[in-house]
Amino acid sequence: AGSTEIDLALFGALGDLAQRKLYPALYHLDREGLLDADTRLLGLARQALDREAFQARVQSALETHVKGAELDRAVLKRFLTRLDFLQLDFTTAEGYGAIREWRQQGLLRPMVVYLSVSAKIYGDICRHLQASGSLDEQTRVVVEKPIGFDLRSSAEVNDAIGAVFPESRVYRIDHYLGKETVQNLIALRFANPLFGTQWNQNHISHVEITVAEKVGIEGRWGYFDEAGQLRDMVQNHLLQLVCLIAMDPPANLDADAIRDEKVKVLKALKPFTDDMLGRDVVRGQYIAGTSDGQAVPGYLEEEGANTASHTETFVAMKTGVANWRWAGVPFYLRTGKRMPEKLSQIIIHFRQQPHYIFDPDQRGLAANKLVIRLQPEEGIALEVLTKDSGLDKGMRLRRGPLHLDFNSAFPKTRIPDAYERLLLEVMKGQQYLFVRRDEVEHAWRWCDDLIAAWADRDEPPRRYPAGSWGPVASIAMITQDGRSWYEDY
Ligand code: BG6
Repeated sequence: AGSTEIDLALFGALGDLAQRKLYPALYHLDREGLLDADTRLLGLARQALDREAFQARVQSALETHVKGAELDRAVLKRFLTRLDFLQLDFTTAEGYGAIREWRQQGLLRPMVVYLSVSAKIYGDICRHLQASGSLDEQTRVVVEKPIGFDLRSSAEVNDAIGAVFPESRVYRIDHYLGKETVQNLIALRFANPLFGTQWNQNHISHVEITVAEKVGIEGRWGYFDEAGQLRDMVQNHLLQLVCLIAMDPPANLDADAIRDEKVKVLKALKPFTDDMLGRDVVRGQYIAGTSDGQAVPGYLEEEGANTASHTETFVAMKTGVANWRWAGVPFYLRTGKRMPEKLSQIIIHFRQQPHYIFDPDQRGLAANKLVIRLQPEEGIALEVLTKDSGLDKGMRLRRGPLHLDFNSAFPKTRIPDAYERLLLEVMKGQQYLFVRRDEVEHAWRWCDDLIAAWADRDEPPRRYPAGSWGPVASIAMITQDGRSWYEDY
């Protein structure tokens, strides 16, 4: 791939995301030769800093977040010379002219504006950028989640962005779409005839998605308590996974071909009915427990917490996609903070053979599972049944994986972080890994119903100790169907 000729203006240049993810990602792109020699980056923040101090901050972010072996001094030096800094109060028009001037000092190439700030001020920033003459017909804007808080507020944010940028130049990030294994869902499904022909309710009995995090709230109580795990993780990341698993084959890999198919899935998600709420949805909140053997506080004892919150830190649900391909196939989703480990995986459970000839005791074993692991180690495994070895075993069956671990199968290829891939796609002007407005809105519509139903019921979430797999009710939810959460980690 060649390099891409753009300049980048980053709002929120001293923020957590910039330091942890964006500078390391840009540095890696530079190291791979994917940043054009003349590409410049303008950091924008409220704080007063001069250029040298900003460069020093970025340097220390890179020293902290890039692996030592990957930190090449010459690349680091080159990367730092690309940086400029501008102090700016984002919400007032004054000062924005300096962005136009910064562009004019360069080669006047397409500019990518990255908004790593609260969605509440996306509209202000877009307007001021436009009024100051800093934009042109090629400027792209990148925005981070959360986009709004529900359908209505997300529409307001999208309208404010849309008043300045056409949809074809808006890049809404869902960083799960940049994860290597998530992209592999597309390759796996649509490049392998084996899976292509089996991918429907005739052959798949159910789908399971677990996105478990070990971390708690990490000083983000204020934000998180207003959001909760449904808004923070399900509305975006988990539903995107559902879309990629469930969508019909797009006609080609164009952004809109893919996104049209994803929207169809979102529209077909099963709505929540009242009787499902008690049975098929579990909300949890962690109490004190342990993480890696250390005692950790409960959600209500975290720094900045109030003691009465009903916000959920865990959700499990049984849902489905009501269409021809997926009728009758449950999708079991669960995600939570303060689980025993960081683990994200998708399990496709295939149906059993129509006729079974082996030991009746082993009947429960007899189905293939496709395990797609996003993290910690990216990999894909197909669980198959073979004959147990040993003379005395007869025709006993044994489960075992056909296993593709990306790191060991392709040891020379470094798996890039999601943000590297996503930033590169923005620079190239390719939108297929970004979320279109109607996707965000359909996802909100579905979540809003559930949130409203929860609000009506006003029940406290179920407790689970930090370091456990969530409330026992989440196990009951799946065992009532004679199934269990996949536990071969
Ligand atoms: C973010 C959420 O979008 O995703 C966080 O706001 C969460 O609460 C994070 O921790 C998880 O991302 P990852 O890549 O670590 O799975």
